Amino acid sequence: MSHHYWKASGKKNKKKFVCLKSSYHGETIGAMSVSDSQSFKKPYSSLYKKFYVTDNPDYRGNNNQSNESIDKVCLKKIEKLFKEKCDELSAIIIEPIVQGAAGMVMHSDNFLKEFYSLAHKYQVHVIADEIAVGFGRTGHFFASEKAKLWPDFLLLSKSITSGYLPLSVLMTKKNIYQCFYDDKVINGFLHSHTFSGNAIACSIANKVIEILDRDEFIKKNKNTKKIIWNAFDWVKTNDALCDLRQKGMILAFDVKNELTDNMFAKKLFYLGYENNIFVRPINNTVYFMPPYIISENQISFYSEKLKSSLNKLLNK
Ligand SMILES: Cc1ncc(COP(=O)(O)O)c(C=O)c1O
Repeated sequence: MSHHYWKASGKKNKKKFVCLKSSYHGETIGAMSVSDSQSFKKPYSSLYKKFYVTDNPDYRGNNNQSNESIDKVCLKKIEKLFKEKCDELSAIIIEPIVQGAAGMVMHSDNFLKEFYSLAHKYQVHVIADEIAVGFGRTGHFFASEKAKLWPDFLLLSKSITSGYLPLSVLMTKKNIYQCFYDDKVINGFLHSHTFSGNAIACSIANKVIEILDRDEFIKKNKNTKKIIWNAFDWVKTNDALCDLRQKGMILAFDVKNELTDNMFAKKLFYLGYENNIFVRPINNTVYFMPPYIISENQISFYSEKLKSSLNKLLNK
């Protein structure tokens, strides 16, 4: 849609895309073409398109550099790419604030703001993939709100129906939407899927929005976020663990590389399972991303069980 828009605006060369290092946007050939997650992509390397990948700010394990200086270096690289290639760039795609599958890599609000401003300045569309972070997950209803600027495209799914039925949404700006109204059918945006706008899924989505609003979950989560942070205080004093971090209703930490092997995630999953918790590490990143209805007791139950499972695994 981004490329189609540029084409309709007389800029047919704007057909390349940029994504961030370690990014994950899905498993179709198109989505893989704008992802950098090698474990998902590698077997299909002869099929997907090769686009630009630029550095993501990953503050983990960077004890000598401030987060601000890491942001600066990444933004400089992005600006250089935009300066040199903006005539051929259609869009840059980002999972705003938290890159999930990358290992819950968390970015600063300022990075996001500067990222969006640069893209707007060089006329490269911003595609905000809020499939995992939308609907209040990072503290705001949309993670993009932290940039105080809107993306050109915003993708939603997962929490939109609270997982009860599959539904996804693509939102765009009025000028882009309007551009597809044309007397010639070929100029319209003709794509959809079998279950697009499925009435039952849409009805659930409306109910989810109504309940989030009615029960003031975005406001309540501010307090739940603090309860979660306090419940995981033990992580700070465990010398096998590092990089404790949190954005809204996502908390994550890493187990030091040298203490894990490639079976770590599986082993912790099974130990957690025996302890009545569901834990699904991404490599050596352990994260907690609970439903908003979780109670204080359930948070401390989970935290304690995770602690004992980890201690058992790490022989502590
Ligand atoms: C950030 C992000 N984008 C895209 C996707 C893929 O979504 P779908 O499976 O609906 O294609 C996921 C799935 O986990 C995701 O986390």
